[in-house]
Amino acid sequence: MIRYVEETGSTNQDLVDRLKHADYVPEGDWLVADRQSRGRGRLGRDWFDGSGNFMGSTVVRCAPGQPSPATLAFVVGLAVHDAVQAFLPAGSGLRLKWPNDLLLDGAKLSGVLLEMIRDTVVVGVGVNLKVAPDVPDRRTVSLEERGITVDRDAFAEKLAASLDRELERWRGAGLAPLLRRWQSAAHPEGTPLQVHPPGEPPVTGTFAGLSSEGSLRLRVADGTVRLIHAGDVFLPDAPG
Ligand code: BTN
Repeated sequence: MIRYVEETGSTNQDLVDRLKHADYVPEGDWLVADRQSRGRGRLGRDWFDGSGNFMGSTVVRCAPGQPSPATLAFVVGLAVHDAVQAFLPAGSGLRLKWPNDLLLDGAKLSGVLLEMIRDTVVVGVGVNLKVAPDVPDRRTVSLEERGITVDRDAFAEKLAASLDRELERWRGAGLAPLLRRWQSAAHPEGTPLQVHPPGEPPVTGTFAGLSSEGSLRLRVADGTVRLIHAGDVFLPDAPG
């Protein structure tokens, strides 16, 4: 079920609050807002409140025997990728960037915020369907400015179905096939990357794929591979 509201602070915060109050939120239910006054992004940042954009959250239940909850980053990234791709022509320059940003010709189109409350992960997704924010240190894009008009509610339906399918595969087939598919939807190996690990100086290198747990493998200047577990990733040479 998808519930639409005109305005809220943050759809993620609303679901976090419900879970904290022991409210049962069924998996597959989505909360989608037209506007968010306190939208949250990754690493403590704010998320742009763009009218006509997709801003929504859902929950995923974690259970013993499933792949690690941290790997939901890839599940959700792929689900968003496939949902957006469904509205684009083939060969449209849509690429995943570790762990789950979606780039269109190198510019940020969407983001995912995961927050864990006990055994449940709140999954928040923001997609610039209509408007892209001005962000000082990165290029952003909306589908509308590329001449692609996507109805927000139609997108919500597509994304809900896409996430259901990915969760079934994640639970049924495990991590390895998921990471392979993630990688084929991402920028190719050898792509120059700059990584900003939290609290450390930036590191530059080239993309050397994913580890078996999903860490980013960054080949640095001396040829060795450094494993990145957290941080912001930039594609300095992405075409403009
Ligand atoms: C990022 O920083 O890239 C992640 C952005 C996630 C934004 C979405 S919009 C819907 C949900 N509610 C929030 O407050 N944040 C997420």
